[in-house]
Amino acid sequence: MASKPLITYGAVFAAVLGLFALSAFAQPSVRKPVAEAERMNGYALNDYAGFWKNPDWHFVTVRYRRDSSEMRLTYANDIAWKALLAGGTDYPEGAVFGKVGLLTQDDPSFTSSAVPAGARRYQLMIRDKVKGKDTNGWAYALFDGRGKAVAEDQDIASQACWACHALVPERGEVFSQPISMDISDTLPDPGAVPFAQAISRVEFDTVQVSTLPEKIRARLPKETETIRLVQGKLALNLFRGTIDEIRPTLAKESMRAKMPAVLMSKDGTLFSVVHAVAGVKSCALSGGGQGVTVNAFYTTGIVPGRESLIAEHQYCDKQ
Ligand code: HEC
Repeated sequence: MASKPLITYGAVFAAVLGLFALSAFAQPSVRKPVAEAERMNGYALNDYAGFWKNPDWHFVTVRYRRDSSEMRLTYANDIAWKALLAGGTDYPEGAVFGKVGLLTQDDPSFTSSAVPAGARRYQLMIRDKVKGKDTNGWAYALFDGRGKAVAEDQDIASQACWACHALVPERGEVFSQPISMDISDTLPDPGAVPFAQAISRVEFDTVQVSTLPEKIRARLPKETETIRLVQGKLALNLFRGTIDEIRPTLAKESMRAKMPAVLMSKDGTLFSVVHAVAGVKSCALSGGGQGVTVNAFYTTGIVPGRESLIAEHQYCDKQ
């Protein structure tokens, strides 16, 4: 794999799950009833369990994140699929997208090939104008590998899901586009850009380092004067998932602008910082060629009443 993490995502994931388990054990009196704990925005994974093997659903696409070695498979129910093929921007009630995220690791018997490895999570977007009334008609739900809702604060998480999905309004706030695996006489142009608007939707502004909290400043190389800071709705609505999802976008911006790129909550308690510039070290990409060493640090393991933990991650990324 291209990535050589200092802390593997499996370890971070396990640590976070462990913290959840500990806090649930320590405070039995505040534990929610099981049915409620398994729901987010009124939806349980059980409502759509097995969507990934349901013959009435359609496989939409697969995505892979180089930095975290996570594979994502996205499916649509029939209502969502028809609207997607029609280029829908206003999905009808009952349209559902389901996504499965799988961590991967090298197959020990043949390390050129990565295999799904243990941890998985599930995400749903359900067109429901009542349950999704505060998030533009989509009810969002996130579950761990056991099918339990994992968001620490469901309202904050829902707003954060929406803040990112709202980056693609012309696709009805749905990122995935169907891939074709059909046999074809015309080979795809390798330089073709899959989406009509091949620009990043995340907005940045250049900001003085002196305006950042000390815990971020202290970790940046001394000579850094300015950084690129994420603006807009995305920065105002953060949850753990955003911190994680944004990293490759920050890496690209850091390489482009030649300064660190930062996503930070207003009060500075949650952040993701990516630095692909200082001490630009070239590194060997596993698929061949040279890449850029990317340094990232970000808040994780959010426990109420305690400072967030800060994880660090270094990997080799394409320029
Ligand atoms: C920082 C951006 C970001 C955040 C936050 C985010 N998503 Fe997504 N989501 C994406 C991207 C990008 C995709 C496309 C597939 C991929 O890359 O995994 C996606 C895909 C999906 C899909 C498949 C349909 C589609 O739009 O492609 C579902 C379902 C989904 N997300 C649910 C959620 C839920 C639930 C949350 C909140 C708990 C959430 N997302 C938060 C960026 C985000």
